[in-house]
Amino acid sequence: MRRNHSTTPRTPRVLAALLLLAAAGAFTLGAAPAAEAAPTPLNRVVPAPASVTPGGTPYRITRATAVRVDASAEVRGIGAYLAGLLRPATGYPLPVTDRGTGGIRLHLASGDFGAEGYRLQSGARGVTLTARTPAGLFHGVQTLRQLLPAAVEKRTVQRTTWQIAGGTVQDRPRYAYRGAMLDVSRHFFTVAQVERYIDQLALYKVNELHLHLSDDQGWRIAVDSWPRLASYGGSTQVGGGRGGFYTKDDYREIVRYAASRYLEVVPEIDMPGHTNAALASYAQLTCDGVAPPLYTGTQVGFSSLCVPKQVTYDFVDDVVRELAALTPGRYLHIGGDEAHSTSHTDYVSFMDRVQPVVARYGKTVIGWHQLTGAHPARGALAQYWGLDGTNAAEKAQVAQAARNGTGLILSPADRIYLDMKYTSGTRLGTKWAGLVEVRRSYDWNPGAYLAGAPASAIRGVEAPLWSETLTRSADIEYMAFPRLAGAAELGWSPAATHGWNAYRVRLAAQGPRWDALGIHYYRSPQVPWPAR
Ligand code: ACM
Repeated sequence: MRRNHSTTPRTPRVLAALLLLAAAGAFTLGAAPAAEAAPTPLNRVVPAPASVTPGGTPYRITRATAVRVDASAEVRGIGAYLAGLLRPATGYPLPVTDRGTGGIRLHLASGDFGAEGYRLQSGARGVTLTARTPAGLFHGVQTLRQLLPAAVEKRTVQRTTWQIAGGTVQDRPRYAYRGAMLDVSRHFFTVAQVERYIDQLALYKVNELHLHLSDDQGWRIAVDSWPRLASYGGSTQVGGGRGGFYTKDDYREIVRYAASRYLEVVPEIDMPGHTNAALASYAQLTCDGVAPPLYTGTQVGFSSLCVPKQVTYDFVDDVVRELAALTPGRYLHIGGDEAHSTSHTDYVSFMDRVQPVVARYGKTVIGWHQLTGAHPARGALAQYWGLDGTNAAEKAQVAQAARNGTGLILSPADRIYLDMKYTSGTRLGTKWAGLVEVRRSYDWNPGAYLAGAPASAIRGVEAPLWSETLTRSADIEYMAFPRLAGAAELGWSPAATHGWNAYRVRLAAQGPRWDALGIHYYRSPQVPWPAR
């Protein structure tokens, strides 16, 4: 009875809708689409390009388009990556070749591009990306991708036209360090999950992946000389689940995949605090010789390596040596935050002994900004994770270190900690630094953020994502998107392009792309998303 009642009136409505669609020309059998969508304006890209000069005829990708590359393996690799992105939705063959003219051309040339900049020129005959480095070409590919309809991200053939607006984009980053951190300790994420995030980061020209590899709740990287760190220390996580760790081959695979997306991996071993997983694995690392149990809660500040013991430095040397050997990147992050169970004197003496170990194995130290309360090594970077309006003395200490030559990475927790809840209704995340909606996350200027720090000390911006409440890729994505895009723009785009009103429109255009990619994101009411 109820079923009949509800279906009877619905059928004519469906028919009427179909007739309307047919009348509008959108419902045609086997024919080309009736209406051509206007190409995306050249400036509707995140991060905002440094300069855009629109004009001229759009380029249209067709079945005849080739991806034309310089005859070098690396440029060919980027061409193959681009063709791989475009083939499923276009259904076109898109051969990658170093012959012919027109089409999509990827080309290295000397010029004023910087280490990561590029130029994109689009006209009737083709699109040319030019850069001084492969990284620049790769970033240009991400711009090209965003200039195509969002449907290009789908993995089945889509019926639309694939146009790129005419004109020129000339682009280069504001900061060399544009990072995202993933906490794989509080909850473990697999290689495949990390690689999925890497692909999402690459779309926004993020070039540093900081992996928080150890904490109280889990040690996530195999160390041959101290095998229980991973086998025992990695055997659980927040909430008591199975945890996990990366074998050295797993880790090499992450590094390789990141490099293929032009990201450098920054491994972090957090010391001397946040070390319960290590202390639980090896009793000799504790001052009293008694191993604590594994920990699956979410408190901080209760653990410390034993600073006076020599074995602590044997341990640090082994771990840093093995990790440095796995790391082609420049940096090794030694944590140093929330060492509440380490006296100040011990903290300073620990950092004085450990920083030279990092240098001995050829890496540059990064530490959380508490490192500025010790003696940051020459060339070390400090990662600021404080809040806007508080901690004046701590901010002054960080600014003083910056004046003394310590470079800064900005990760203010009440701006770009991606694990902060958006609103009180956000199911995931934490709120110790406050609620952080999309506008608040975007609307600040890294260049003017820390009073007294010289502009030249600011090396970039990083958006950390702590995983106490996150267990799935969908959780990572819900907290990262859309705020990650804003953090990436703060790192890449010139200050002159900054503006919430224009940004929210560009950001809204990313929504359909995330839908097409299967990215689960927060549809903030602050952003005018197109209807789904
Ligand atoms: C931190 O959030 N403890 C760096």
